[in-house]
Amino acid sequence: MSTLQHKVPSGLDHKESEVYRHLDPARLPKHIAIIMDGNGRWAKRRHLPRVAGHRAGVAAVRSTVETAARIHIPALTLYAFSEENWKKRPKSEVDFLMRLLSRYLKAEVPTLNKNNIRLEYIGRQHELPQDVQERMSWARESTASNTGMVLTLALNYSARSELVDAFRSMLTAAAQNGGIEHLRIDEDAVSRHLYTRHLPDPDLVVRTSGEMRLSNFLLWQLAYAEIYVTSTLWPDFRGVHLLEGIAEYQKRERRYGGLNHSEGRPPNP
Ligand code: FPP
Repeated sequence: MSTLQHKVPSGLDHKESEVYRHLDPARLPKHIAIIMDGNGRWAKRRHLPRVAGHRAGVAAVRSTVETAARIHIPALTLYAFSEENWKKRPKSEVDFLMRLLSRYLKAEVPTLNKNNIRLEYIGRQHELPQDVQERMSWARESTASNTGMVLTLALNYSARSELVDAFRSMLTAAAQNGGIEHLRIDEDAVSRHLYTRHLPDPDLVVRTSGEMRLSNFLLWQLAYAEIYVTSTLWPDFRGVHLLEGIAEYQKRERRYGGLNHSEGRPPNP
């Protein structure tokens, strides 16, 4: 692998710098989405309760967020809590995750500000506990003037619910703007009514713990994303693994349904 001659951003550790040196800074993804998976298996391997895996997962969040910000990724979205998690996991685990999120937000706001990171959320926030919603609003407002990376946490999120909410939102907007006969639906209109209207579509989606599923995450937005699956369990994931995912992304040729370069060339005379 050749080493590209460019400056390594400050703050990267030795291992991260080694991987970064092989990246092309002009072709970094503009938006990376991550399905954080494997907390339960990480805990089980250590004969610990599942929640110990979630607790350990916070260090992985911290490292990944800081590294992404240091290399100037414009947007990072983390799938922290799905609508299905809420319905299918024991109440004690859900309560633990809510407390963990609240504590993370309180502890992390100064670091987010130091790294110029703006916090956003996607998902049905109004269904979360009131105190968690208040902490979320506080954290968002505390980082609202930051101009660097946008960190979006998917909380109580489901891509299908997001689409349902987008269609409802389009109908409401049409009703308020002259009536349903003025409703115009195209791809841009759908995108403008999604929770992710503040973001470009992800170029890269990372999933940890080896599972090959999208699990109802950003189904519309991931239409052309490159998929990178690593066997690393989420609590073991660090910034260096994110950089490895980006290295893999840069090896791929993105075609958006078109031809690759050699296929596109006219035949030799
Ligand atoms: C999936 O692992 C992970 C979750 C459902 C929760 C993700 C939460 C964190 C990473 C920690 C807190 C996050 C923030 C933003 C503070 P799993 O339990 O499904 O693992 P398994 O598939 O091995 O059982």
